Amino acid sequence: MDRRKGSGSRDANGGLAEATASRLRFEDADEVAGEVGMEVEEGPAAPGEEVIGNDKTSADYYFDSYSHFGIHEEMLKDVVRTRSYQNVITQNNFLFKDKIVLDVGAGTGILSLFCAKAGAKHVYAIECSQMADMAKEIVKTNGFSEVITVIKGKVEEIELPVPKVDVIISEWMGYFLLFENMLDTVLFARDKWLADDGVVLPDKASLHLTAIEDAEYKEDKIEFWNNVYGFDMSCIKKQAMMEPLVDTVDQNQIVTNCQLLKVMAYFSTKLSFVFVLYLFNWQIGLNPFVYLICVFQTMDISKMSSGDASFTVPFKLVAERNDFIHALVAYFNVSFTKCHKLMGFSTGPRSKSTHWKQTVLYLEDVVTICEGETLSGSMTVANNKKNPRDIDITLKYAINGNRCKVSRTQHYKMR
Ligand SMILES: C[S@@+](CC[C@H](N)C(=O)[O-])C[C@H]1O[C@@H](n2cnc3c(N)ncnc32)[C@H](O)[C@@H]1O
Repeated sequence: MDRRKGSGSRDANGGLAEATASRLRFEDADEVAGEVGMEVEEGPAAPGEEVIGNDKTSADYYFDSYSHFGIHEEMLKDVVRTRSYQNVITQNNFLFKDKIVLDVGAGTGILSLFCAKAGAKHVYAIECSQMADMAKEIVKTNGFSEVITVIKGKVEEIELPVPKVDVIISEWMGYFLLFENMLDTVLFARDKWLADDGVVLPDKASLHLTAIEDAEYKEDKIEFWNNVYGFDMSCIKKQAMMEPLVDTVDQNQIVTNCQLLKVMAYFSTKLSFVFVLYLFNWQIGLNPFVYLICVFQTMDISKMSSGDASFTVPFKLVAERNDFIHALVAYFNVSFTKCHKLMGFSTGPRSKSTHWKQTVLYLEDVVTICEGETLSGSMTVANNKKNPRDIDITLKYAINGNRCKVSRTQHYKMR
């Protein structure tokens, strides 16, 4: 496994950016911001935003992490990500030709530039970090000032010069798909500005789960704390277990099938209930009423609502060989279904790696599983109440196999 970092906001590979963006935790970001001379605009905290230090909110630190070029360098150099967007835009000119486009969270302006080249009538590029100033310069240097207008500010606060847009494009996905909670911003823009026949790109995202053998690394990262130069530091082990690890998983570590885990918000309550009863047969003592609002499916970004990003979903992982399971691994896929031909990319361990890597959740137990046996349970995902950009995950898992019988609930915090 390539083990370069733990969980956090997007990392930049190396140097100052690694020290700032990738390791940024909102709690300790004060010093970090100071170190790199970031400017922090003052202002009152919005509801739900944590106030840190004197006058800074967790949101300030989030946006500051995008002010440094390092994080953008990493995203741009992620060719799976950036080429996918480029191919979607340049190979589907019909979606952009003479259209008004809104780029939500434009960063360096790369997606806006692709759209302008594809013939968009006008592109509004909204970016709230200091990178907006660079984006303005980049647009000018490349001769697109007539077509692209960069607006510096938060999507939720700016005035758009037009009442409606035809296309909303955004790269909003965080680790574990939902970390950073930028999806809410895209949904806000969709509800405020998208024309009735407009499109959101990408329009589908799905979260997936599998199980891996990971003895060596679990020993190194978790069991390490049991005996540190002869001292018991296992209190830290408890914390380490609670932090999902963002890392690259080798596909040879996969022990079970991979399962789609996602919420579809557009079933009626009645339909959900029918589906729930069906699912309930293979659940392990979970409250069926939870499923009235949550059903496994793909997330439809053009239709879903903000609350749909919090959910409880059941899973059932079937072993493809005799092995031990040390962790569950989550990853996401994204698709652009409005293209002439379906396009998209996967961040799964069997696909070319991306800067999102995969998200590893270590299990308390070492699960001994035989081919054909099932590890089942449920995963609850919710935005942290104190800091909505963080994610709380509750994992319930159980196996009643030949060599292993376990039932457990674990809590994780992604921050
Ligand atoms: C993942 S980056 C993508 C940047 C660029 N679109 C690209 O593909 O390289 C997301 C960007 O959205 C910006 N952003 C996040 N939330 C925003 C908000 N509410 N309003 C404006 N910009 C936002 C961040 O500062 C960051 O630059």
